[in-house]
Amino acid sequence: MKYSVIEGNLAQVKTPCLLTSLKAARAIAREPGKTAVLNRSITDFKNKLEQSITIQLDGNIGRLVIVGGTDQSLTEDQFRRLCTSAAAVLARQPVKQAVVALDSVRVSGKRSPFKQLAIMRAITSALYHYANHKSAAAPPPPLASVRLAVLERKATGNVARLGNALDAGMKFARDLGNEPPNVCNPNYLLKESRKLGRTPNVTVTNLTEKRMGELGMGAFLAVSLGSVTPGQMIIIRYNGGSKKDAPISLVGKGITFDTGGISLKPPGAMDEMKFDMCGAAAVLGATRAVIDAKLPINLVTIVAAAENMPSGIATRPGDIVRSASGKTVEILNTDAEGRLVLCDALTHAQTFKPKTIIDVATLTGACIVALGSHASAVYSNDDKLANELLNAGQTSGDKAWQMPLWDEYQSALKSNFADMANVGGREAGSVTAACFLSRFVKDVNWAHMDVAGSAFLGGARKGSTGRPVPLLFQYLCDQAGL
Ligand code: BES
Ligand code: MN
Ligand code: ZN
Repeated sequence: MKYSVIEGNLAQVKTPCLLTSLKAARAIAREPGKTAVLNRSITDFKNKLEQSITIQLDGNIGRLVIVGGTDQSLTEDQFRRLCTSAAAVLARQPVKQAVVALDSVRVSGKRSPFKQLAIMRAITSALYHYANHKSAAAPPPPLASVRLAVLERKATGNVARLGNALDAGMKFARDLGNEPPNVCNPNYLLKESRKLGRTPNVTVTNLTEKRMGELGMGAFLAVSLGSVTPGQMIIIRYNGGSKKDAPISLVGKGITFDTGGISLKPPGAMDEMKFDMCGAAAVLGATRAVIDAKLPINLVTIVAAAENMPSGIATRPGDIVRSASGKTVEILNTDAEGRLVLCDALTHAQTFKPKTIIDVATLTGACIVALGSHASAVYSNDDKLANELLNAGQTSGDKAWQMPLWDEYQSALKSNFADMANVGGREAGSVTAACFLSRFVKDVNWAHMDVAGSAFLGGARKGSTGRPVPLLFQYLCDQAGL
């Protein structure tokens, strides 16, 4: 998708498709013939939120899509619903280009850039199409370019650039998530990450299993051990800020398939464990967006990529390993593998002296029990950081909810034989997983996002959602002062 911004009189616009409000449509269809067509077409149109009609005009404006709910002041969430339904209608139009003019819709407390970004996010989501492995795929929606008509161009700044960057980042993340696990393995994640290194101020490196052994990453290696495909720790450095600025670090769980290991998962829906690399996909998608938008920040993105398999040499329940931090872990359940690869990735992230670390992981089924698919869970050792993430989620419509990281929960990880166990009990599974990770971050602002419920959907709508790329990108734009 290619987004751009235009300003000026809609009556002069030439486009195969214009999507706008009833009021603007009336102003455009001034000529008697057109007014008659319009009036005939809107008899059943009640101008309600999520309602729309499409009218063939065949002039400068080929077809007119009128969306409802535009003559009242809307809340952020209402405006996003309007955008989602508008985008769904646009995705069905047989046109390559469209103009979207919704700038005059009032959203309480929000200005034009908010509205334009919401429109672009909705269109990006609706137009996403994945058919890499269909031999006779339905053709993708033809829409390839959208011009956003705004009242005042200078009030929108560089929103189109941000919208285009997020579009590319979302597509990258969703494609990675949807690729099957026989394609998307740790090596594939490395290959895809390396593509980001084609831009001059980006470098991509990796730690092989041999190097991770030298660095003492016994927790990571306990997971990758059981697989024929070796694990990879992927590091992407983007320098867009000034040299003296400490970087922000994003860390992603990249388990390209999670069988559970020797603590084997039951077979039902096990295929969905190809999505266990969606945390990695999200940090890679956000990184892609930051690079494309040329944000003036420094970023270090780390992907902990491994496959969790049972085998004759796989880790057993009861095995004790030493992590790169020096702390020992008794692995009571090999299915709690995400925290094992992440703890060594977090230790490595700290060698870059970041001001903030945010890890993203499909970490626990318990997170889905707690929050379902509507919100990602946020845990943090710093309430300011937690609030910044929650606000970015609110602004982008990619919502998150803060969960407790209280000391009371830490005792669940007690081990009789090592510094800690890798699992707590049945209770508060998402919290105790976060507690485990918290033990590996020292003197740095850190947040953990459990995206087990938000990053992908199961059932009939099975597929990756690209979340929380919008939240992360919004957070990073906020940090860049945009
Ligand atoms: N990848 C899973 C968590 C998960 C489950 C994500 C379902 C998305 C959907 C993770 O590695 C896992 O297996 N966690 C265990 C932890 C338990 C052994 C403490 C879980 O949630 O059951
Ligand atoms: Mn697991
Ligand atoms: Zn997992």
